[in-house]
Amino acid sequence: MHPMTDPFPATLIARVDRATPDPELMALAGQIIRQGGLVAFPTETVYGLGANALDAAAVARIFQAKERPASDPVIVHIHSLAQLDEVAVDVPPVAFTLAEQFWAGALTLVLPRHPAVPPGISAGRATVAVRMPAHPVAQALLQAAGVPIGAPSANRFSRPSPTSAAHVMADLNGRVDVVLDGGSTDIGIESTIVDLTGPVPQVLRPGGIPLEALRPLLPALAYRPQYLPDDVASAPAPGTLLKHYSPQADVLVFQGSDPLRVLEAMHQTADKYVAEGHSVGILAQDSDALHFRGLEVQIVLCGRDEAAFATHLFAGLRTLDAVPVQKILVRAPQPVGLGLAVQDRLIRAAEGHIIQVR
Ligand code: TXA
Ligand code: MG
Repeated sequence: MHPMTDPFPATLIARVDRATPDPELMALAGQIIRQGGLVAFPTETVYGLGANALDAAAVARIFQAKERPASDPVIVHIHSLAQLDEVAVDVPPVAFTLAEQFWAGALTLVLPRHPAVPPGISAGRATVAVRMPAHPVAQALLQAAGVPIGAPSANRFSRPSPTSAAHVMADLNGRVDVVLDGGSTDIGIESTIVDLTGPVPQVLRPGGIPLEALRPLLPALAYRPQYLPDDVASAPAPGTLLKHYSPQADVLVFQGSDPLRVLEAMHQTADKYVAEGHSVGILAQDSDALHFRGLEVQIVLCGRDEAAFATHLFAGLRTLDAVPVQKILVRAPQPVGLGLAVQDRLIRAAEGHIIQVR
């Protein structure tokens, strides 16, 4: 009997100095992209799993490696505005206004797709999601490859997004040709996605650029959060599934306007789970941690504000999974600034297990 053929027999991990990426290494990684291979790389948001966006077979390998349903489209990355013409057509003037202020950076724009971009990358849609990343390693890779790079987050489908090369390896070792290890990512959650192809600009996913920063340029900006059950085929818009970013443990999200009452409810719940013999983890904003003193729980600190929470969120979920714990309790931040995106990821990680504390 023949062994199953493994398309990615070995994964090479290469350390990259983020300030001055080694040109020879980048040239090699760029060549792998041009030849149809997969390269995982850091961006300022999360790590991406990259392939030549203009090569349908290479793009298909992304879906295979991630075990991602073909109905979930992939973001195309470019190094400069000059490359925008290669991937999108009929770009509205507001896209250039947004690009001027937010590119390179954590903003993705959905635009009409250029016919040279294979439909598979956009799950057959007539549109394409485009982003210009700011991370020096992402920039160097895009320059070296010379082609636009399609890259979803470099995790297995429905797992927490990777904010370090170790997270990428945990999910994709043996499924990607090279992982460029540029250390931990800065923002920690994915880009904000704005669809510019409809009658009004619409937020498809809150992310690294807060909506408050976009509104002055997009006064009509609409945002309707969608949390759908796990039937991918029936989802009207891609990326709206309830289950996403999920660790193995059950996640319970606590919400409420009075932080002290919320913390009290978390304390009681943790106490109850521990008494029942469960192992419990708490993802805690620094100032909240003291409330859980004396409990037999694992605490992971998430910093002092919404931005720090975003940076620590996915790594925290993976850390608690590795302990392992069976239950993860977390207080949602206020939905302002990056807190909106953190709350969105928590709701999906919890698959809807939200406890409202009044
Ligand atoms: O920060 C980020 O955006 C990271 C880094 C690697 O750039 N990428 C990322 O990709 O988060 P991914 O695959 O995890 O999320 C892509 C999401 C899809 O699930 C979908 O919601 C949206 O982007 N998307 C992509 N193309 C689209 C399109 N043509 N129309 C509507 N939504 C699209
Ligand atoms: Mg993703």
